[in-house]
Amino acid sequence: MPASGPPARIVCVVGARPNFMKIAPIMRAFADPQYGLAATLVHTGQHYDAAMKLALFEQLKIPEPDIDLGVGSGSHAVQTAEIMKRFEPVLDDVKPRAVLVVGDVNSTIACALVAVKKGIAVIHVEAGLRSGDRAMPEEINRVLTDQISDLLFTTERTAEANLLREGIAKERIHFAGNVMIDTLRYNLDAAVPAAITIGAHADADKTARFLKGFGILTLHRPSNVDDPEVLRSLLGVLGEIARDTPLVFPLHPRTRQRIEAAGLGSLLDGPDFICTEPQGYLEMLGLMKQARLVLTDSGGIQEETTALGIPCVTLRENTERPITAEQGTNTIVGRDPAKIRTCVADILQNGGKAGRVPEYWDGKAAERIAAATIAQWLHTPAPTGSRAWPAPTT
Ligand code: UD1
Repeated sequence: MPASGPPARIVCVVGARPNFMKIAPIMRAFADPQYGLAATLVHTGQHYDAAMKLALFEQLKIPEPDIDLGVGSGSHAVQTAEIMKRFEPVLDDVKPRAVLVVGDVNSTIACALVAVKKGIAVIHVEAGLRSGDRAMPEEINRVLTDQISDLLFTTERTAEANLLREGIAKERIHFAGNVMIDTLRYNLDAAVPAAITIGAHADADKTARFLKGFGILTLHRPSNVDDPEVLRSLLGVLGEIARDTPLVFPLHPRTRQRIEAAGLGSLLDGPDFICTEPQGYLEMLGLMKQARLVLTDSGGIQEETTALGIPCVTLRENTERPITAEQGTNTIVGRDPAKIRTCVADILQNGGKAGRVPEYWDGKAAERIAAATIAQWLHTPAPTGSRAWPAPTT
């Protein structure tokens, strides 16, 4: 329990779409007065489109950011540097006790790096996930953020082993569970029925066909969408699958641009696809709940489908979330058309993996983060081997 005194202020950072689902339950937990915490929410502006930000903030009931850095898009270097430049004065002004970052996007490493160099403690939620693939920008962000974090919260037990192997002190690591799944459980009953979302994008005949059994497709990884030949091959095999199981395909802005630039839009015309703008959280949840299967290269969707018990086919060569394949409903197939076909056929014939919900994916991760650790840690001396906490601000 926190000592009496003013609440300890923590700057919480979000930047890109998957961060929003993770910060929502953390903001709720931090608002509980019993923990003696106060949050300042900073949005870097990495994602800024209405579909990528506004709908999610509203649906997830995330408070409006206290500060929006408005960085927008750019190369990795430009985006990361711009976030850093704009974030530093925020810390000078707010003088928080700690900066909390989530996930693995450019905003995560940029803000963690600014904080650590100013002697402000860094808290990383969703620490220790490793794909082993350093060609993924997110893998670089994960490794570096974990190295400079003072308090690391993990979502699955393999993450702790990864961190220990990289020399992170054990007392800094806490297995808290999955905040993304906190959000899923919190919103499950409010999910928008698939019939409404599909009906909004198709005529009555097409809607009826989809509702007999549809899949969901999401693609946005540079490794899948940036090379026109890779993209053409993927859309080819996905088109074959869609003849049997029509696919709802919410298009990430990067993917839409790449499809248009490569002249591949015609592959998605016709009765087997419904292509949409990025969906809101509640629409996506409703679609996933009712889907026969989900094909994706997203990280979060691998976890959400495992929590929902829906078969997931991951169109990547690896995953940083191995528990979804070991215990959940996920199969990692990569981009080989033959493997994708075989995996989908198996799911349609046999229903896919039974799967079970992993430990601590129970809707209470954010409470554990606030209660068991941050509050105690903030109000007790720094553990041996850690940098001292900065002096409390009043
Ligand atoms: C980022 C994350 C990725 C995450 C994904 C979820 C990094 C390195 N990548 O990838 O881990 O899975 O978000 O969506 O941080 N764009 C818009 N509107 C927006 C945002 C982006 O049009 O609101 C377009 C821009 O052309 C931009 C491109 O999408 O250049 C890519 O955006 P960016 O934030 O650089 O990376 P994502 O691919 O979204």
